[in-house]
Amino acid sequence: MEKPELSVRIERTKLKAISLKSKLPNIGTTIFTVMSQMAQEHGAINLSQGFPDFDCPHRLKELVAEHLNSRKNQYPPMAGIPSLRQQIAHKVKSYYDFDADPENEITITSGATEALFDAIQAVVCTDDEVIIFDPAYDSYEPAIQLAGGKTIHIPLTLPNYNIDWNQVESAITERTRLIIINTPHNPCGTILTKADLDNLASVIRNRDILILSDEVYEHMVYDGIKHESVLAHEELKGKSFAVFSFGKTYHATGWKLAYCIANKELTAEFRKVHQFVTFTTSSFVQYAIADFMAECPQHTLELPAFYEQKRDTFCELISNSRFKFTPSRGTYFQLVDYSDISELSDIDFANYITKEKGVAAIPLAPFYAAPPPTKIIRFCFCKDDSTLSQAAEILCKL
Ligand SMILES: Cc1ncc(COP(=O)(O)O)c(C=O)c1O
Repeated sequence: MEKPELSVRIERTKLKAISLKSKLPNIGTTIFTVMSQMAQEHGAINLSQGFPDFDCPHRLKELVAEHLNSRKNQYPPMAGIPSLRQQIAHKVKSYYDFDADPENEITITSGATEALFDAIQAVVCTDDEVIIFDPAYDSYEPAIQLAGGKTIHIPLTLPNYNIDWNQVESAITERTRLIIINTPHNPCGTILTKADLDNLASVIRNRDILILSDEVYEHMVYDGIKHESVLAHEELKGKSFAVFSFGKTYHATGWKLAYCIANKELTAEFRKVHQFVTFTTSSFVQYAIADFMAECPQHTLELPAFYEQKRDTFCELISNSRFKFTPSRGTYFQLVDYSDISELSDIDFANYITKEKGVAAIPLAPFYAAPPPTKIIRFCFCKDDSTLSQAAEILCKL
């Protein structure tokens, strides 16, 4: 019997180009990645992206190794390990006199970036308005956009980068849902005062407006000034998500460990997002930081003096340059005005000194919806003194 011939007809489907509608059409690669890559390609000293070039505490690394070697390899609880949340509760009690319930009000996240994102997704609905202050840390607006919200940009007032509270009051509408503050402030190195927080409280009083307070540089405040946390503010503490980062505090930005504190109701909504963004974060690092917080509470107490010294060293080293500046009051960033050196825009000037002179900086324009015509860039001083000296030698010749 003859075998029936199998005829296989291959249908050629014409592949149609997929039209992809970007959800973030105006967003490129973050300026921190762009400048760090440029620094690497050109062998420039990297004073752009905010990360230390010195090591984190030796004891902390020992603890990480201990926990890694003791089989802490599986999923930790979604909200973070209980001992770490307990340590955080002790810490915010002693720093801000805030009674946080570790079970219902503290959530460990994969970096402050995740916490900021989760908080925004948790409370911003389609067409809600969110007020941010320019220059603003660049993760806020994309998160608002992804939540379907509308970003209302209010520029900080020059030359001291203050918030004009009258302008905030006039920007409030019935759609305003969230105001994002950042103190100490990246990139400006400014801090909000108690009076600022009082103004904020009065602006949102009797309104359905929440606060997202980015306080990742809480321990980098200088000249004897105290960090004003929303957690220490009677009216604001119940209406806020307060975000902190272990990466900044323990010189370990690559570990991406942070936390968010908010009341039970807000935390419940926050965790609904967190559980489907990352679910939880690296187990052994959580155990190590919990132990380190208990063993070495002096680390955070010593941090302001440690970084104030770095700020002073850097400012002293560039005091004979043609840059003009007011020493930073917080964070590990220093703004400098280069108008006596160049007519270039801040982006062009940052590119120029990175590629041609060998020191990388961050321009301010990417942090603005409408950049002002200022000639200001940001340097990062969380570097070894030898790195700062080498960089300053170059900067003084400009
Ligand atoms: C103001 C501000 N918020 C949030 C973050 C993100 O912190 P993390 O590295 O913990 O995600 C940074 C990091 O540079 C920052 O400067």
